Amino acid sequence: MNDKKPKRRSQEWFGREGKDGFLHRSWIKNQGYPDDLFDGRPVIGICNTWSELTPCNGHFRELAEFVKRGVYEAGGFPLEFPVMSLGETQLRPTAMLFRNLASMDVEESIRGNPIDGVVLLMGCDKTTPSLLMGAASCNLPTIGVSGGPMLSGQFRGKQIGSGTGVWQMSEDVRGGKMTQEEFTAAESCMHRSKGHCMTMGTASTMASMVEALGVALPGNAAIPAVDSRRYRQAQLTGRRIVEMVNEDLRLSTILTRSAFENAIRVNAAIGGSTNAVIHLLAIAGRIGVKLDLADWDRIGSALPCLVNLQPSGKFLMEDFYYAGGLPAVMREIREVLDQKALTVNGKTIGENIADAPCWNREVIQSLADPFKVNAGIAVLRGNLAPDGAVIKPSAASPHLLKHRGRAVVFETIEDFHARIDDENLDIDGNCIMVLKGCGPKGYPGMAEVGNMPLPPKLLRQGITDIVRISDARMSGTAYGTVVLHVSPEAAVGGALALVRNGDMIDLDVPARRLHLDVSDAELARRHALWKPAATPLRGWYRIYVDHVQQAHLGADLDVLVGNSGAEVSRDSH
Ligand code: FES
Repeated sequence: MNDKKPKRRSQEWFGREGKDGFLHRSWIKNQGYPDDLFDGRPVIGICNTWSELTPCNGHFRELAEFVKRGVYEAGGFPLEFPVMSLGETQLRPTAMLFRNLASMDVEESIRGNPIDGVVLLMGCDKTTPSLLMGAASCNLPTIGVSGGPMLSGQFRGKQIGSGTGVWQMSEDVRGGKMTQEEFTAAESCMHRSKGHCMTMGTASTMASMVEALGVALPGNAAIPAVDSRRYRQAQLTGRRIVEMVNEDLRLSTILTRSAFENAIRVNAAIGGSTNAVIHLLAIAGRIGVKLDLADWDRIGSALPCLVNLQPSGKFLMEDFYYAGGLPAVMREIREVLDQKALTVNGKTIGENIADAPCWNREVIQSLADPFKVNAGIAVLRGNLAPDGAVIKPSAASPHLLKHRGRAVVFETIEDFHARIDDENLDIDGNCIMVLKGCGPKGYPGMAEVGNMPLPPKLLRQGITDIVRISDARMSGTAYGTVVLHVSPEAAVGGALALVRNGDMIDLDVPARRLHLDVSDAELARRHALWKPAATPLRGWYRIYVDHVQQAHLGADLDVLVGNSGAEVSRDSH
């Protein structure tokens, strides 16, 4: 090692003499590592979210082996470690309740161990933001590699997409257009390979955000999980992180304000998930970049969506990869990107996308002939959402973007489930469904229930969309005229808590307005009668509810915002 270089932090463990050096090396050697691996070469932590309960990340042990190959080839010493894995389809009440908990696991696992640089293995929805948030709070050299999407779902001669197909087919069953047997048969046809959801849902969106932020090698977002090039990407990532440690290229150098602005623009161009709003706000808060909800509208809302992918369009991630993937999209919108933003391969965004080809204009349309115009996320405000709410116009019905309707209120999601199929429910196609109690503190964890299914009696009339408003989130695979993330949420006494059946609500997306047509005096009277729900008594639920911030701030815990660096702490023995 060059003596002039600062001592690597891993040498504060492995480079010691006496009992401490013995303790740190000897126990690791029980896994068969030779002496020379402790000689001061970069120690690379591979942060793995593998779990059989997170099926989207079920191939990550294999993926990690390819990262290790690359690390060894470049002269590093890879050490893989597990962190809490969040499976979107299994965790109840919602994986989002545990995003911040997992981020703490990541942060403290990195900081407390002899690690000089980190590779983040990310796939299922919350595994991407939780790892980025935790790593950002340490700010070591860090690179991400996503697990890649599943192959396209195939059912009876048609492509079916993760999530999106479920919402469509379940409405068909409820509306009498599909039998339960057919619905069950589709289960095995939708998800037929390793990987994460293959629509432009939250996982694909966040994998795209990782690439747009510059935290992964080009091509990260779309390579299918089972494509050999995904494993090649992992191996190259392993090589690169060793170089990044040698260059001391830290996450804060990559995650700049420009990087976040680029990501917001890319999110518009891909028709990305509304969940990206919350996650990027939280990541920015960790790395110390000032980003707020208004930035999403100001920077991204006027941009078009170029990508014809479900849930906004027709194709799936496999098609997207074959069409050129994210580099092709970014090249198309390069004029609005900060092309000088640095990425983990040491090159700028502009250099990375300079020659990116598009092979299929049906899947990735051009800026001159976009798939949808003005498609970025819109931020609404008004007396119903003083701190903001969001809507994804690309997934909404154009005729409902300006709408006045009578509120049909559900106090909880259980109340909704109990009454939505009731033929006597007083609702018609002009009504607005309002759901309360599903925000960060209220659920708790801000569940993905904002895209409430429609009443069967409306479905039978051929109505496929009505306005829905809540403090919940929505799956990135879902669609509809759905207003989400109303802040402040009902559980803290926001105006949403005060809406009653029969109130009139004005939604005006072009004017960015969400208004409850009830007088201030009447709202004050209702607020005086409002009672907060009981706080959970103990454990993580208690910590979460006591400390989680509202959606417009990214729903991080107040005590986790910011970062503490990667200073080596006191000795353990
Ligand atoms: Fe894991 Fe969709 S359930 S990515």
